[in-house]
Amino acid sequence: MYRKSVVHVLLAFVVFLATVGLHLNTALPNIDYQDYIPAGEDNVTKLCLVRESVVSQVLWNHRTGFYCYNYTNSARFIQKLNYKSMWFYWETYNANISLPVAIISDTTVALFDYRDADSLKLLRKSFMSDEVFDNYVKCCRDAEDCCNNYMTDTNIYGDEKHCPVIWDAWSCFPKTPVDTTAEMPCSSQAYQSPDKVCTLKSKKDCLYNEQLRIGTWNQQTNYSTCAIAPVYLRRHNFHVIFLFVCIACSFPAIIIFLAIPSFRELTRVILHRNLLIAIVLRNIMTIIFKKLVIIDALLSSDLTNHVMELNSVGCRILSFLVSSSTNSTYACMLIDGYYLHKVIVRTFAKEPSIWILYIVVAALTFIPSIIWAGIMVNFEATDCWAVDRNGAQWSVDSFRIVILLINTFLLLDIIKVMISKMKQGGTTRQTKAAFRATIFLIPLFGLHVFITAKKIVVNDTCTAEDVYDYFRYTMEALQGIFVAILFCYANSEVQNELRNVFRKINIQLSQRFGIRLRVPQARRRTTTATYVQTSDSKGDF
Ligand SMILES: *[C@@H]1O[C@H](CO)[C@@H](O)[C@H](O)[C@H]1NC(C)=O
Ligand SMILES: *[C@@H]1O[C@H](CO)[C@@H](O)[C@H](O)[C@H]1NC(C)=O
Ligand SMILES: *[C@@H]1O[C@H](CO)[C@@H](O)[C@H](O)[C@H]1NC(C)=O
Ligand SMILES: *[C@@H]1O[C@H](CO)[C@@H](O)[C@H](O)[C@H]1NC(C)=O
Repeated sequence: MYRKSVVHVLLAFVVFLATVGLHLNTALPNIDYQDYIPAGEDNVTKLCLVRESVVSQVLWNHRTGFYCYNYTNSARFIQKLNYKSMWFYWETYNANISLPVAIISDTTVALFDYRDADSLKLLRKSFMSDEVFDNYVKCCRDAEDCCNNYMTDTNIYGDEKHCPVIWDAWSCFPKTPVDTTAEMPCSSQAYQSPDKVCTLKSKKDCLYNEQLRIGTWNQQTNYSTCAIAPVYLRRHNFHVIFLFVCIACSFPAIIIFLAIPSFRELTRVILHRNLLIAIVLRNIMTIIFKKLVIIDALLSSDLTNHVMELNSVGCRILSFLVSSSTNSTYACMLIDGYYLHKVIVRTFAKEPSIWILYIVVAALTFIPSIIWAGIMVNFEATDCWAVDRNGAQWSVDSFRIVILLINTFLLLDIIKVMISKMKQGGTTRQTKAAFRATIFLIPLFGLHVFITAKKIVVNDTCTAEDVYDYFRYTMEALQGIFVAILFCYANSEVQNELRNVFRKINIQLSQRFGIRLRVPQARRRTTTATYVQTSDSKGDF
């Protein structure tokens, strides 16, 4: 073991001398490197492993900085600089050393050592944005950290059972047993978008090399697992499918509410129906937006030419419609809650005019979104207003939260009144039934949103985010489905009306064609909702 590492050090030193020994001097670049101090000048013997080569710490930042630059996704550059090797005379070692440099012009080059401020400034100009440039610098720092803190004289060489610690140009992989796969959080260099995303893992295989009898890395690290697009795509597709299911469940209920004449008159039915219509409209808008803008952007391989990037006026209007249709579901929940509260708690209050209710809904639908759109226009927001970069989303979110809070108070008040009624003369079974009925109202009031309103990130893994998003999307779709089931399909009035319609059709059929269908018999059972509102049955819903 001891002999082996001595041989390794000697070998590496020979390599070092060989590079230093060449006496090829090129014209000195414009930048004055006289005071440039290379890394680890008093500790030349520290060696580190990058890809296939063992490199002296003195040259480490140049080599790894070059790799970080060279392997940066070309979409992150305005103009990727060419590179070459260049000889420098270093006084410290009294030696000529070859370094990779970026070619700025015929007379100017930049070093890849990120600690050289002048060079860094020159390299910055070739990057698209500060964000991607910062990712590059982070890569350089991580490389330095890997060499300084994770590599030692011995662990950079594989043995019979392990692969060595290695810098693969993006990530620092630890010493790993043979025939296993090491996983590291993906380098920010690997993500397509430089924005902060949840943590995915890159994979590198440690294999047993039969000839050398040591563990060797598969040179190619698998960074395909770092693509965030497939993760997002799965989530958005799931959302779209659930919104479709919600539409399919809510649509017949809307038709029933519209088609049966007696339902067209009852305020409560009208309000439930409007909530369902608002939910369906929001779903349609969201589906169109997700399909045309978000999923399109995720699927597009072209980084600049998709709908979201083009940021057309039509696309921004669509974004506005998504926002306001979402508001309208909240507005309808508020009005529904308010009316229910009026029927149960404020029994003798004046019946509100339906037109005033409509005006309130319209105002709550559009005013927050108009404020939001105003802010977005003011910030000259891009990306079809789909990405909240300046926190403008709060202007609509705060309206929605206020609505939810009001509804919470209304529901608590309803519960209070019901409890006191039960205490006055009810049995415990009735109390239970009433409680059950009240709990069923929660989707009507939108209170389930509270469960998912605040993103609780346990850790920043993508799985945690997945669970949160799938749960949120399911809850969103379930609201429409619950409202349709509770206030339409499971409602005894509706069932009776449907039975009547069926009977009429049956009579028509038998008169015209002599066909008789079996008419389902009405079952007597209490359901959670009843639209007959006489003054003494108002607790029964
Ligand atoms: C040189 O490197 C060795 C091994 O990495 C370390 O133990 C030692 O402290 C270093 N010496 C100096 C002067 O940095
Ligand atoms: C630089 O990157 C390109 C691909 O991006 C690769 O083909 C080439 O070998 C790299 N150069 C070096 C010296 O690693
Ligand atoms: C470095 O290169 C120059 C020019 O080729 C040469 O004159 C000088 O002797 C070299 N220095 C060393 C230390 O090899
Ligand atoms: C990378 O990993 C993914 C998922 O594990 C796999 O499907 C793919 O084939 C791997 N690619 C390579 C080049 O090994």
